[in-house]
This record gives sequence, C-alpha cells and structure tokens, in this order.
Amino acid sequence: MTNNETTTETEAATTPVSSTDIPAVNAPSTPASSKISRDNRSTAGEVRVDAPRMRCSEINVYYGEKHAIKNLSLDVGNAEILSMIGPSGCGKSTFLRCLNRMNDTIEICRVTGSIVLDGKEINDHTIDVVPLRANVGMVFQKPNPFPKSIRENVTFGPKIHGLASHKDDLEAIVEDSLRKAGLWNEVKDRLDQPGTGLSGGQQQRLCIARTIAVKPEIILMDEPCSALDPISTAAIEELMLELKENFSICIVTHSMQQAQRVSDRTAYFHMGDLIEVGDTQQVFTDPLHQLTEDYITGRFG
Ligand SMILES: Nc1ncnc2c1ncn2[C@@H]1O[C@H](COP(=O)(O)OP(=O)(O)O)[C@@H](O)[C@H]1O
Ligand SMILES: [Mg+2]
Repeated sequence: MTNNETTTETEAATTPVSSTDIPAVNAPSTPASSKISRDNRSTAGEVRVDAPRMRCSEINVYYGEKHAIKNLSLDVGNAEILSMIGPSGCGKSTFLRCLNRMNDTIEICRVTGSIVLDGKEINDHTIDVVPLRANVGMVFQKPNPFPKSIRENVTFGPKIHGLASHKDDLEAIVEDSLRKAGLWNEVKDRLDQPGTGLSGGQQQRLCIARTIAVKPEIILMDEPCSALDPISTAAIEELMLELKENFSICIVTHSMQQAQRVSDRTAYFHMGDLIEVGDTQQVFTDPLHQLTEDYITGRFG
C-alpha cells in the first residue's frame, strides 16, 4: 500500500474544477493531498476550447452490456494535437472511432450523445459516413497500404470522392500529399512500385499521404508509431508537428514521452471515464486528479 492510498478525500474532490483552477505551468506542484480523489470520476480540467473544430457532448458507448465510454464531453481544437493516454482497455480507441463513426462497423456497438463538426451533428443517422470519413481521416497502428502502387495508394481516395479525375490534377495531388507526408524525395522515382514494398516507417507515411490526399480537417491516429523503430517514430512525430498547421490531430499513444513531445493538450482516460484533460505540460507536471498522477508516475497501468 502506498501513502496515497490512505489519502482522505479533500475539498477538491467535491468542488467542480474550472479552467481557472489550473495552475500556471511554473507554479509549484499541487501537493498530492490536494489532488481530486480516485473515486471522483467527473472530468477535471477544461473540456471546452474556443472555436472548436469538433465538439463532443455526453458521449456514451456500449458494446452489448459493456459500458465502454461514460458520459464523455470533449472538444477538439483547431490546429492542435490532442493526445489520448491511459491504461489498455480504458476506451481510447473506442472514443477515437466515435469521431468518424467507425464504431458503426462493429455490430454490437451503440453510441449515444452529440458530436458536432462544422455545425453538423455527425451522429445523425441520415448523414453519409463516406465523406465524413474522408473529412475525419484515420491512420492505424499497423501501416496498411493498399496492395497497389505508391501512386494509386494516394489517388484512390481523390478518385472515389470525386476530388479529381484529370491525370494532371491527380499527379498534383500525388506530389503534394507525398511532400506533406515527408515521403516525396524517397519515392518520387518509384511511384509505380507497390506501396507494400516500402519500409514500415515509409508505409506509415504513405498511409498519412493517402489520408491527406482527400483533404481532411481532422486526422485520427491510433498508436501510429507502435509498430515503428525509433527513427521512423521521430520522422512521424516531426511530420505531425508540421501537419498540425493545417489539420487537427487526435492521437492515441501508449508512450507518455510521445504525448509530451507532440501534443498541445492531453486527455487521460481510465476505465471508460475521461478523468482529466488539459494543457499537456500541466497534465504531466501537475495533474489535478489522483488517477492521472498514479498513471503518469507509473503507479498504475
Ligand atoms: N469490438 C469490441 N467488442 C466488444 N468489446 C470491445 C470491442 N472493442 C473494445 N471493446 C471493449 O471496450 C473497452 C475499451 O476498449 P478500447 O477502446 O479498445 O480501449 P483502449 O484503446 O484504451 O485500449 C475494453 O473493455 C474492450 O474490451
Ligand atoms: Mg486501443
């Protein structure tokens, strides 16, 4: 048993937390005893941002009887990288999949609540998920290029979404997307070779190029570097920092170092609850919630 487990509930645990309660980055750390107690599962920190790109309110997700996301509200800001961290099984991927209706593909999965993107409710079952998934693109853990040429991997999306059909326009998209993904110089002389012939890190950048090619507003990344070596990981992280000028990025990562290196805000999940969200530096140096502190100090997960 650690000292913290004997900590009694403090006033902070029952007082709603507002953004004004977040200490300045260089403020002395909140003493452990004033952290919000482990049994308080409402979200600490400010879930809302000014002029959000996407606004999620009271999201619940169920797999049959299993309640996987519990009453979650969170904004995705403009031109920001938002990282989602937490122990395995806490609901990070489930939440990410809410943002482009990918949970629709799981038969037993039921999602309630509101997600507004560009003034439109994406949980409205009359919306077409095909353009939604172009606008909110997804990059997976394991690079999954199509079994086609490098060029066709990039042109596939623009063709099916009707963004371009003329050869010159498609070629321009290929070059632009591969440049933005930091891959152009490595592949420009072999665009007709299979995408699956690239190294793991290059394949992941090809998947990012494929996502960018359909001009998304938001890019979702679910542990995009966990199958990559450190050099490819560094390349992807550098790329994310460049991409955030034009796109909002939501990344699930099991690497706390990665979250700290790339993200502007960090959200900590625990057993289906969004426990805390805030400025990345604050979350890692002076979390408001005891559960966040347990996780970042390696006491849990
Ligand atoms: N397709 C599924 N069917 C049933 N349960 C699922 C499915 N996907 C995830 N879950 C359950 O939902 C919870 C959250 O899972 P997940 O979102 O994958 O967590 P994380 O990404 O944080 O590891 C877990 O208990 C998991 O077992
Ligand atoms: Mg996951």
